[in-house]
Amino acid sequence: MAQAALLRYGAQGTTSTPDPVAGVLVQSEGWDWMVFRNGPLKTYGGYALAAIVGFLLIFFLLRGQIKVESGSSGRKIMRFGGIARLGHWLNAIAFILLALTGLNMLYGRSLLLPIIGPEWFSMLTSFGKISHNWGAFVFIFTTLWIFITFVSKNFLSRDDFGWIIRAGGMLTKGVHPPARFFNFGEKIVFWSAIIGGAGIIITGLALLFPYQLTFIPGELAIHKMQFASMWHSIIGLGLIVVIIGHIYIGTIGMEGALGSMTSGYVDRNWASEHHSLWLEELDAKAAKPDVGAGEPAE
Ligand code: HEM
Repeated sequence: MAQAALLRYGAQGTTSTPDPVAGVLVQSEGWDWMVFRNGPLKTYGGYALAAIVGFLLIFFLLRGQIKVESGSSGRKIMRFGGIARLGHWLNAIAFILLALTGLNMLYGRSLLLPIIGPEWFSMLTSFGKISHNWGAFVFIFTTLWIFITFVSKNFLSRDDFGWIIRAGGMLTKGVHPPARFFNFGEKIVFWSAIIGGAGIIITGLALLFPYQLTFIPGELAIHKMQFASMWHSIIGLGLIVVIIGHIYIGTIGMEGALGSMTSGYVDRNWASEHHSLWLEELDAKAAKPDVGAGEPAE
């Protein structure tokens, strides 16, 4: 009886097979993991996604698009070179694919299955699972790419405090706190993508190569998998919330921002309103006789 009780609570014995996990007959924490996944994770994850979409909708209705208030100058400045843009877009495509297929794994059964039926849902989810596994490698590679390309411009600086105190000028028209190449809001996005990205990558690799990453916390090998699965979903949902905000401000939220990641160029007046200290640096460089005018920032 006592032995049965021990088994029920995940006791690990020995086995002659090469797989040490086979030593656990009953793994009772699996139940806790499932209750967490189908309960708080799904519920609060759903609230967080609805909250960011709702917040941005209200923000857009109240504030509208943040315009270039001094109008177009007709003079373009290079902001991102080809390598930075390629890394960004490959990372964005991989992230969006991973986010959509990951959300389908969590919410698809409740939201999509009743609408599209079992045949289509199983086809979509099988394809999604394969894309999720392979897309992960593009995400790993391009997260490293983004880190190398942008890290030098993302360290906190004293100017960030002025930007924070005035909420980046986002709440009030006519307010443009000075910022260097990246402002504090962009630094938040960068470090979320890097630190959150690293968290998703490590926990994701632990799920992709089961029982191999032994440094993951947990007493038994199976606990490590449950830990990895739980944090993979939590960090993933958190990063999706941040990136929805980022996509908003990079597209409809701010006039003139998207050009920096499509053509690589921004209007001089956009730079002067949103990154005045960067523009000053560029002008100072251009004024030096050995550096050409309009020298790219990278
Ligand atoms: C449709 C999707 C996306 C759009 C339209 C978009 C747009 C942009 C734009 C316009 C910039 C340049 C901002 C500037 O000039 O200062 C930028 C920068 C950046 N993006 Fe994206 N982006 C998208 C997806 C993503 C994703 C999925 C990630 C990472 C997971 C990401 C990470 C970054 C980072 C780290 C930067 C540099 C720092 C920053 O501006 O925050 N982006 N993006």
